[in-house]
Amino acid sequence: MFKRVAGTKDILPAQVSIWQSLEAISREVFNLYNYKEIRPPLLEESGLFNRSLGETAEIVQKQMFLVKKGEDEFALRPEATASIVRAYIENNLDKLQSFSKLYYIGPMFRLERPQKGRLRQFHHIGCEAIGSKDPYVDVEVVSLANTLLARFFIDEYTLHINSLGCPQDKKKFADFLRASLKGKVARLCEDCQARYERNVFRILDCKNEPCRAVIKALGLNNEHLCKECAQHFEVVKAGLGELGVTYEVSPLLVRGLDYYTGTVFEFKHKSLESQQDALGAGGRYDTLSRELGGPDKGACGFAFGIERLLLVCKEEKIAPAVKPLVFLILLGDQARQKGAKVLNDLRSHGIAADTDYESKSLKGAMRKANDFNARFVAILGEDELRKETISLKDMQSGQQREVGINEITQIISNSGPMVDGR
Ligand code: HAM
Repeated sequence: MFKRVAGTKDILPAQVSIWQSLEAISREVFNLYNYKEIRPPLLEESGLFNRSLGETAEIVQKQMFLVKKGEDEFALRPEATASIVRAYIENNLDKLQSFSKLYYIGPMFRLERPQKGRLRQFHHIGCEAIGSKDPYVDVEVVSLANTLLARFFIDEYTLHINSLGCPQDKKKFADFLRASLKGKVARLCEDCQARYERNVFRILDCKNEPCRAVIKALGLNNEHLCKECAQHFEVVKAGLGELGVTYEVSPLLVRGLDYYTGTVFEFKHKSLESQQDALGAGGRYDTLSRELGGPDKGACGFAFGIERLLLVCKEEKIAPAVKPLVFLILLGDQARQKGAKVLNDLRSHGIAADTDYESKSLKGAMRKANDFNARFVAILGEDELRKETISLKDMQSGQQREVGINEITQIISNSGPMVDGR
């Protein structure tokens, strides 16, 4: 028997409704902030990610699902920011609208060691605002993410923010870290020893205690920022404060991808395990468009991991209202023939309706109606057919009556919230 690939999940019908709710809430909130949906392909040239995330990024080094075809190498997208900037440039979106606010919902792929909250196929809800270096864009992006968490009824999270500064500041910071850590490399874990040369920033978010102690002793405090970047960060912090968004400045927050410049942020949840406690993250990436051959455009965005949101959201508060159902029990071949027409009528009037295609007995069909939690059960047997009626039972009030077979749609339409305002 075939099994699903480790680190992937079947999202079964019982769970799909909560996914749809999260997606519907997200779309509503993105619309409020005037973001438009974009759907780039799941497959890109692998070079796009090597270039954008950086050759030394863990995702590029170890986690890409690669497909080779002749000379070409493709990757299942490990994240969407690079794809969206590629699409922005390739489709000349900057010519249509110099400032584009885009959002996306969809699967991402990373070849990781699967565990709770860490999958090989997972899903992002995210957005990218491309075309402005204004610090108030950062404020809007972070507060939009914060609003989403409130709308998902998620609390007990913390928002951590930091600024990496411009590319020159980043270089200054990396040089400073290498110089400060020079005599201490032997005290770092094996991974961090490799990171010292390759990607020194990653040492800052190592979870190993000895590495944390070494880092803590450095007493980092954003001193690497130039005047302009420090000013930008001040405006962002003040703007968030003005909106009542609570945050902690975390000088050790660096993010693992090369494209970040300036503001970076991460939402962590205390009930998740420390290795996987980020619900979502994002930041500015002012040089990526130019790096990929596009115009010089500042940009900022974030992404939440849907599977992690689902671990902590209050499902009962966001579960969608289930549409009431009429369940038709058809006894005998003639009734089945007539029933197909009744079902069709109900559905064409916006009333959800179903029947039993399996059991032959009234008892079995009643059990099915109960399983579906049907609001009405309508029975059509030989007797009713002769009289051109149908027995209609309101499962809420328990009342049962015989109504004309041609009146049933009208009667149910008039009985309450069976139809969506159409
Ligand atoms: P990221 O931090 O790599 O950022 O991913 C964002 C979120 O996706 C994480 O905080 C986490 O919730 C979720 N996530 C990541 N990997 C996994 C996994 N293997 N299994 C389950 N969930 C996962 C980005 O991808 C950036 N593109 C975000 C961004 C958008 N920055 C600017 N714009």
